[in-house]
Parts: sequence; structure tokens; C-alpha cells
Amino acid sequence: MANVGNGDKKITIGRFVQKVHSFPALPTVVSRIMQITASSDASLAELQKLIEADSSLAVEILRWANSPLFGFRREVITLQHAITLMGMREVKNLVLAKTMFQTFQTAGEFDSFALWRHSYYAGMAARIIAKLSQGNVDVDANECFTAGLIHDIGKLVIYLELDEESIKKLEYNRPLNPNIIEEEESMIGIGHDHLGMQLLKKWTFPPKLQTAVGFHHHPENAPEEKHFSLIIHIADLISHLYEAETLQIEQAAANKTKLEKMLLRPAACELAKKQGIPLNTTMIEIFLGNLRMEIQQETDIITLLTGSQ
Ligand SMILES: [Fe+2]
Ligand SMILES: [Fe+2]
Repeated sequence: MANVGNGDKKITIGRFVQKVHSFPALPTVVSRIMQITASSDASLAELQKLIEADSSLAVEILRWANSPLFGFRREVITLQHAITLMGMREVKNLVLAKTMFQTFQTAGEFDSFALWRHSYYAGMAARIIAKLSQGNVDVDANECFTAGLIHDIGKLVIYLELDEESIKKLEYNRPLNPNIIEEEESMIGIGHDHLGMQLLKKWTFPPKLQTAVGFHHHPENAPEEKHFSLIIHIADLISHLYEAETLQIEQAAANKTKLEKMLLRPAACELAKKQGIPLNTTMIEIFLGNLRMEIQQETDIITLLTGSQ
């Protein structure tokens, strides 16, 4: 039984940070893919060589490339052809999404699929926001997808370390709690945002992604690249908005109002204005409308990533 009383906060922080350090390493091939594709002169040959060395991953990518979802007319039989057709970034995102799904599954008793799905939707929403903000902010839509996909990874550390009762106390099943980070901090001494940042550091993810994840609840506190954290913050809530209207039909209207209020928090609006990211009631509807449309188009990709082989 976990002891998460306030008096033991120091001990508890140590325990959670320790958990980050003992957390399974990301498969080497995945962290290498992250590093290679993060550089502006990433080469296809390098990526191909890396994937070739991992035969199960190579087979998986060929399976994706030959799936009717991608609509390539001819049979794809070489890895080089698959990467060229799909694009290096798409390959990276699919590999990461698949790895995240497998990683989330380690948190057995919790609804790890729900957390993964929320993260995938947040990735999609982040990409939409980035595309609609282009011209005003210098941001890579693909990188935003990646950050969205991993934004709540710190929750996994908490899931794996805390007992069920304490997790219930944190009300993880209620995404509408605007004070979740503060509650985590008072209960265990650290929020899932900062825990996630530490895990990504251990996994040697690019610093930009570490910051975006570390400040996705309070982008105004990000030490740099505030616009990146802000996009992930908005995307997180847009993903919850989508889930509120599709998964909790009974309270949909009330939840929507609550989430909109969280989205239009004065600190976030002020930052958005400064950073040139459009954030108002109309834009929220536009982001959400685009997300609805894209989710419909990507349902089969989600099945492909999460279904059994
Ligand atoms: Fe979060
Ligand atoms: Fe989230």
C-alpha cells in the first residue's frame, strides 16, 4: 500500500523519480529513430539501415505500407520503397504510436487503451492546431503530433507506482479536473507533467519535446518554446472535448462548458495572443470540427496500430 501522506512528501518524490529511472528503456531502435528524424538532415538510408536491423519492425512497416489504408496502388516489397511512400516522419510517428501503445499496456489494471486513445487524439489535435496557426508561429506540425502522443506519459509512471485507492483519489477518471497537477503535487510531490519530462530525458528525447510535455498543463511557465507547450495544452483539452461529446453522452453539454472554460483560462488566452496562436470560442469549434473529421478518416489506422497481429 503506497504511503502518499503529505508528511512523507520528500520520500515520495524520491520514490517517483526513482521509478522514472527504473522505468523500462525505450527499445533502442525507437530512441535512435527519434534522434535521427529530429535532425534536419535526417537521411532515409540511415533510417532504413536502422529499421532493417530490427526484423519484426521491418515486417510491421511493410504490413502498414501494404494495408489498403494508405492506398498505395502497387505491392510494396522493400523497406526503402515503404519509407519513401509513407515518408520518414509518418514512419516515425507510427512506430512511436505503436511503441506507446505497447508501453501503456504495461499498466495492466487501468484502462490503458483509453489513455493511449486520448494521447493519439491529442496528437492529431496538436497537428491541426499547428497547421491552422502556421504563418503566425514557427512550428512543425509533425513534431506537435509526436508531443501530443506522449504528453501524458508521466501518468503511466504514477499508474505503475501508486495503489488503486490513491489513484482513485487523484480522480484520473475525471479529466475535467483543472487542478490535477496541483493535486498530484500535494499528494506525491510531483505532477505527471514533470514526471513525463524526466522520463523523456531518460529516453533521450529531443529537449523541445521534453519541455512541451513538462509544461502541457501550464504552458505559461515553460522556460522556452512556450508556443509549443501551449499547442499541446490546447490539444489535450480539445481531445478531452471530443471524448466528452462521444464517450460521455449524458453529461456532454456540462462537460463541454467546463472544458471550454479551462481552454479559455486567462493565462492561456494571454499567452496565445502573445504567441500568435488563435484561441477563442470560434477557433475551439474549428479545432474540434477538424478533429472529428480526421478521427473518422483515421479510425482504421488506430485499429491497425492497436489490433492484434
Ligand atoms: Fe496531462
Ligand atoms: Fe492529457
